[in-house]
Amino acid sequence: MATAELAGKHLVLGMTGGIACYKIAELTRLLTKAGVTVQVVMTEAATQFITPVTMQALSGRPVYTSQWDARIANNMAHIDLSREADAIVIAPASTDFLAKLAHGMADDLLATLCVARDCPLLVVPAMNRQMWQNPATQRNVAQLRADGIEVLGPDSGPQACGEIGDGRMLEAGATYEAIASFFAPKILSGRRVLLTAGPTFEPLDPVRGITNRSSGKMGFALARAAQQAGAEVHLVAGPVALETPWGVLREDVQTAQQMHDAVMRSVAEADIFIGVAAVADWRVDHASEHKIKKTADRALPTFSFVENPDILASVAKLPHPPFTVGFAAESVDLEMHGEQKRVRKNVPLLIGNLGPLTFGMDDNEVVLFEASGSTRLPRADKQTLARALIAEIAKRLPDTSLIR
Ligand code: C5P
Repeated sequence: MATAELAGKHLVLGMTGGIACYKIAELTRLLTKAGVTVQVVMTEAATQFITPVTMQALSGRPVYTSQWDARIANNMAHIDLSREADAIVIAPASTDFLAKLAHGMADDLLATLCVARDCPLLVVPAMNRQMWQNPATQRNVAQLRADGIEVLGPDSGPQACGEIGDGRMLEAGATYEAIASFFAPKILSGRRVLLTAGPTFEPLDPVRGITNRSSGKMGFALARAAQQAGAEVHLVAGPVALETPWGVLREDVQTAQQMHDAVMRSVAEADIFIGVAAVADWRVDHASEHKIKKTADRALPTFSFVENPDILASVAKLPHPPFTVGFAAESVDLEMHGEQKRVRKNVPLLIGNLGPLTFGMDDNEVVLFEASGSTRLPRADKQTLARALIAEIAKRLPDTSLIR
């Protein structure tokens, strides 16, 4: 979980009545761990599901529930609580509260805070599927969107009532991601990004194969940063044990050939291609159909290899390539090999790191190679670095009007 992106932000976290209140304990923990000041305000109904004591302990601040709370000096909690806030997040947002918001009602502290706010408002609906589908709710949600209120979710799936459908609140982790995404500058808005990430796996037989130690962390971090920057993101991933970043379309592949084919199928729609995967250079000519057995005379198996397609070079060679970015992991002489590789692969931008030392690690230091020279970025964790790299890529894009 990235932290720096929300550090220093101040949120009013408004809780309304619903069983999904239990998710807000975890959300509060994630937000405070990321350096966010969380001011919890609860409706009377919310306090039936989880206590203000729990929420105070998790947020580290007193919880407000009443419009008549005299703890704020001027007795104006409904004004003052939102004045320091970067946003108000209503989670869970009940059917009733969405209706109130849509009509500008102000009959309790939280509703009044929302009407009196001068900051963005995000709502995270949580309700039974029939309540969500009810035409009145849908009318209210459309009105909220038209009023510039951000609606996060809802999710689909099993519900506390035992029914299955739309209306579940996003999980705490997904809510965190959606909030982080809301605050990220939309420097790739309207752009489509295609990425490869992770290792490839080249089978020798049905149970064995050749792979490498790429964890996929850098590629997944870039996919997440591009999504947060407003891009539509398609991630072609080799075998990795990582969660799909929120809002990203993921396609899983095993071999370099499959990765190549997946990229070639989608590249025509992409404005940007980033090849982060550590693609195997060779594969076994004919993988054995059955598990290779030890023989009585202990003869060693022999394999012949053929070269895999170079995905990055194939993309760069297209008649109308997207803005194409390569990665290079070098163990020595990065400065020299980086620029040589950029020219050889014919890409405008190549990002070099001193891997494979960085494989699997959480931080990294990279150098950008381009025709005009090289630029070193400061060492940082991969999420921070991914945001910096997306900003660097965005700066170098041709004007949208000039894009194919
Ligand atoms: O040649 P090398 O593997 O060092 O090049 C690294 C860059 O080329 C990375 O961007 C990687 O994703 C890409 N690549 C590729 N297909 C290959 C080999 C590398 O797309 N077969």
